[in-house]
Amino acid sequence: MRLTDQEKAMRDGAEGAAVVAAMDLLIRYGEALGSERLCDVRNVATSMTQPSPTKARLVREGGWDKAFAVISLDSDEDIQVPPMRVATCQLQHGFGADAEGVVPYPAQMIELQGDAEAFYGRHGVNILATCTPYQVGNIPVRGEHIAWMESSAVIYANSVLGARTNCEGTASTGAAALTGKVPCWGNHLDEGRFGTHLIDVAVRVDSFIEWGMLGYFTGSLAGEDRPVVTGDLAQPDLAELKHFGAAAATSGGVELYHIPGITPEAPTVAAAFGPVPVPQAALYGPRERRAVYEDLSSQGTSTDVDFVLLGCPHASVDQIRRTATALDGRRLSPGTQLWLMVPRALKDVADRSGYTAAIERAGGKVLADSCPAMSRAAPAGTRVFATDSAKQAHYLPAILGIEAWFGTLEECVDAAVTGRWRGELP
Ligand code: F3S
Repeated sequence: MRLTDQEKAMRDGAEGAAVVAAMDLLIRYGEALGSERLCDVRNVATSMTQPSPTKARLVREGGWDKAFAVISLDSDEDIQVPPMRVATCQLQHGFGADAEGVVPYPAQMIELQGDAEAFYGRHGVNILATCTPYQVGNIPVRGEHIAWMESSAVIYANSVLGARTNCEGTASTGAAALTGKVPCWGNHLDEGRFGTHLIDVAVRVDSFIEWGMLGYFTGSLAGEDRPVVTGDLAQPDLAELKHFGAAAATSGGVELYHIPGITPEAPTVAAAFGPVPVPQAALYGPRERRAVYEDLSSQGTSTDVDFVLLGCPHASVDQIRRTATALDGRRLSPGTQLWLMVPRALKDVADRSGYTAAIERAGGKVLADSCPAMSRAAPAGTRVFATDSAKQAHYLPAILGIEAWFGTLEECVDAAVTGRWRGELP
């Protein structure tokens, strides 16, 4: 790998032991990938505060410095964590103290996370505590090289915002935060951003559930490649693109897609493919749409719903408002709980707008910081849950061993109020 003089100096100790370890990790990682150089980044989205039993042990053995060295720098050296060199934010993590008594989540994990927030806050990490940093002020600009984790955030940043990131991990983002560098390969390069698959949409896609189903289809088809999606598409909003991307990164490993005329790097189909010949289109028609719906909804046998989960990825303000409206004047079934996951900064907006009170009057909960998949926590005794998120419908049955129903917000609210699933393909 070719290093600049500045990078060589960082590698050789000019900025201390932690930066040496970070550069060593980035060089090893980059060389394994065949990266010829490092990119400069000024925006890192990482996971440093997520509590875990391993982290608890490392903190007991050597404090937060040791936990960071081992987990974020892959180093056994005795180092002290310096302030983050570039803007760094914490993504979603575990639940916080305000979830105690609502979410069955261990008190010692809440305490460990509180300590982590204090430590990393002192070192310059912005505790956004959401999988959607782009909803709460971290909006990289088109062409900007960044180092982000979290598949649903990565695909949004690359595709909707036109920023450039691979799907990084805890170690590479930890090293990037201390150096402002990340291996320059894959989605960072022009040639790594052209389309590979073409999808022709022959059914109208014009709502949150439709965008989620199309995303799920897109991920199954494209795998880890770069789909270009065209056809009968209504103008999507933020929540719909958030759902589309999260679903495509769930059924596949898509990190970047193009929708000609909508996403910034693809004014046309030809531009989306650049020098690559446009491939034959795969069809997304009524048959494909029904197959996706059946896939996502086939994980429920009992129609008795114990739990309704909304807000994956974390809800937008408009999704919170629409949930409050759908629940207004209604009351949850005594045996059913409803949780809406939101970014903490937007919880404040929801509180001040009266949405939280409306949802709580109905018996629902507005929760920040985490989600059941991340924290492996659902209401005690949950056997069957319903969700409007393709990602949660995909993961939670495997993670928590529960049955899933997938549908619209209105169907989910109906299930919460009646305790029964009555959804069907719209
Ligand atoms: Fe966010 Fe959890 Fe979904 S972290 S994307 S709400 S699985």
